[in-house]
Amino acid sequence: MRTLTFDNGDQMPILGLGTWKSAPGEVYEAVLEAIKIGYRHIDCAYIYGNENEVGDAIQEAIKTGLVAREDLWITSKLWNSFHKKEDVEEGMNRSLKALKLDYLDLYLIHWPVAMKSRIDLPSSGADFISLEEIPLIETWNELIELKKTGKIKHIGVSNFSKSKIEEITKLSGIKPEMNQFERHAYNQQPELVDYCLSEGIKVTCYSPLGSADRPARVKRDDEPALLQNEKVKAIAETNGISVAQALIAWTIAKGLVVIPKSTNPERLKQNLDSKDITLSTEDIATIDSLDLGHRYIDGQFWAQEGSPYTVESIWS
Ligand code: A2P
Repeated sequence: MRTLTFDNGDQMPILGLGTWKSAPGEVYEAVLEAIKIGYRHIDCAYIYGNENEVGDAIQEAIKTGLVAREDLWITSKLWNSFHKKEDVEEGMNRSLKALKLDYLDLYLIHWPVAMKSRIDLPSSGADFISLEEIPLIETWNELIELKKTGKIKHIGVSNFSKSKIEEITKLSGIKPEMNQFERHAYNQQPELVDYCLSEGIKVTCYSPLGSADRPARVKRDDEPALLQNEKVKAIAETNGISVAQALIAWTIAKGLVVIPKSTNPERLKQNLDSKDITLSTEDIATIDSLDLGHRYIDGQFWAQEGSPYTVESIWS
């Protein structure tokens, strides 16, 4: 499997397993099966509500000799309600404990959005805290400190714009090593990708298949269905691969990390096999031409009435 190399030589597998939306009852089997068939990178987060089961599967895989801890790449993310300086370590410890690990390979600030302590999902605008009150640099500086303890090997951000990355980099002198954001054929974000890569910041693409299984609170009826795109279907047919494989192979061809989610054994295998698929220059150009600038995760959820955030302020 192709890997991306960090400054200290650590290697991150370019294809990982996404676990957002994987139900706790299904994710144990999915992660175990994934490791059995060769996945070595699992993308997790506190807010996915399933880190305990993911951790059980990782433990089982290690215990039964399927894999050694050092051969796995585990990413997790700090939730919005742990942004305060004194809460960041607790946020990290909760993920470590649930995952049953003594270190994470990569830890990201999940969103540039702060919420009150002990809130998982906001029920009103009053649950938010503005970035004036808890600036991102406060949270970022804590991640920098935690990296020094060795409990986190690498640190980064998720859903951060160029200007937010510039802000924390300028104030701390330390760049994020990774930015994870929504990127797929319908939302290619070329400026953000180019900016990150030119700064040596690696990119992980979430929702690479369009995340059709999103919960209702972040879904609309009138959205374009990525897996139904006729041009990608034609590419898949000509190459004897699936639409999902074409989309995954296209992302890998750009040198970007990709984390398709599945809990289905057949699709787990299909997605993993994408690592060995090489698309022609023409096929890549065809998928390049499909950009609609369409975000499936548009940030509206953070812009509820009374919230200090707007959709524009989140992405700007
Ligand atoms: P399932 O878990 O049942 O396989 P994303 O990674 O963009 O969030 O997309 C995840 C969605 O895509 C899930 O609904 C997942 O369903 C589905 N999916 C994952 N792999 C494939 C595949 N190879 N073909 C079709 N759908 C897939």
